[in-house]
Amino acid sequence: MKYLFELGRQPEISIAELEAIFLHDGVDLNTLKPRHIGSYLVIESKDRIYAEKMISRLGGTMKIGNAIENTGDPIASIVHFLNENSTGKIHFAVSGEVTKKTGIAIKKQLKSLGRSVRFIETKNTASILHNNLVEKKSDFTILENNIFVTKAIQDIEGFSKRDFGRPGSDDKSGMLPPKLARIMINLSQIKTTDVLLDPFCGSGTVLTEALSLGFKNIVGSDISQKAIDDTKQNVEWLQKKFDLEPKTFDLYTSDSVHLLGQIKPDSINAIVSEPYMGKPLRGNENKETLKKQTNELAQLYIESFRSFHKILKKDGVAIFIIPKFRHENKWITVNCLEEIKKIGFEILPLAPRPEKREAKGVDSLLYWRTKQYVGREIWKFKKV
Ligand SMILES: C[S@@+](CC[C@H](N)C(=O)[O-])C[C@H]1O[C@@H](n2cnc3c(N)ncnc32)[C@H](O)[C@@H]1O
Repeated sequence: MKYLFELGRQPEISIAELEAIFLHDGVDLNTLKPRHIGSYLVIESKDRIYAEKMISRLGGTMKIGNAIENTGDPIASIVHFLNENSTGKIHFAVSGEVTKKTGIAIKKQLKSLGRSVRFIETKNTASILHNNLVEKKSDFTILENNIFVTKAIQDIEGFSKRDFGRPGSDDKSGMLPPKLARIMINLSQIKTTDVLLDPFCGSGTVLTEALSLGFKNIVGSDISQKAIDDTKQNVEWLQKKFDLEPKTFDLYTSDSVHLLGQIKPDSINAIVSEPYMGKPLRGNENKETLKKQTNELAQLYIESFRSFHKILKKDGVAIFIIPKFRHENKWITVNCLEEIKKIGFEILPLAPRPEKREAKGVDSLLYWRTKQYVGREIWKFKKV
């Protein structure tokens, strides 16, 4: 069966997450014959993919669809499918390699069959949600002569509640988008029974996403007592709001450089963290100020990795954001990778599709919007 994944704003990050999930589930990626077409990934799988369950794990996929029969004429095939599978008035949407005319042609043919019909021009996942097009089996994507019907969409309301509804948030230190936190957890490829730590937990975005993914052993620490209080509040709120099984969280007020005082050696399977990234930038800082800041951050990260090495288990991993700063259309980077390697870590490649990776020589994923002064570069380290 062919499956379609509509990817997020940065497709390479969404693909890396999907690859990590398949590898975690023991699927050989080559058997899936993945094809990246614009903002979509198409795969072929002998094993059934349960779209609802799959999408509930992901942060970077907007929708998942299954291929339906294409008799050679996609418009006629969709008309046939809708006529067979819908009762009453038909509401449908079609996207992918289409023009407005495609939708109008489908509508016309259905009308000639005596059906009452409305063509919805979906702009995003929200329009699919608000028009109930998944339940109605009537959101289609046409791609390279394949037709896919949408089986599941991202829980945009859940993400938004977790993003904006939570009680404890610290505007000063900023917040990681929950979708990115979830992607980072998935990139670690650890099991839900493994121990996960965020040593710069802030208001707890990584920890609450881990909780909603069903992780059972979650540890958080932060140098600020307020951050730890916010995290506690957010965890309790999330457990109540989403009716999640109460879990014991280990939360510590601690400098990331001195974790060993609080956390046992060789006890953590994965560190997933967006660390302190320096003072918030206005965009008018001069190069010297930015250089000074990157040097300070490099020291903090190197010292933190010394402490991570002690508390991580053998083969333990760290999914860690290293910021880079935009100055006059160039990046100023935090120089710490070589020192981190010397401590006893290797860098595992995250960028999808090795052929592309080698050409570019990049192992990390960059999360960045044009015009932002800070880019978040995601790295995967393994304790060696
Ligand atoms: C960018 S915020 C993390 C935000 C978090 N990912 C979230 O979404 O809520 C950085 C956090 O690092 C903490 N921090 C700064 N220096 C630290 C240190 N040396 N050790 C531990 N935490 C530190 C700050 O108190 C702040 O909460």
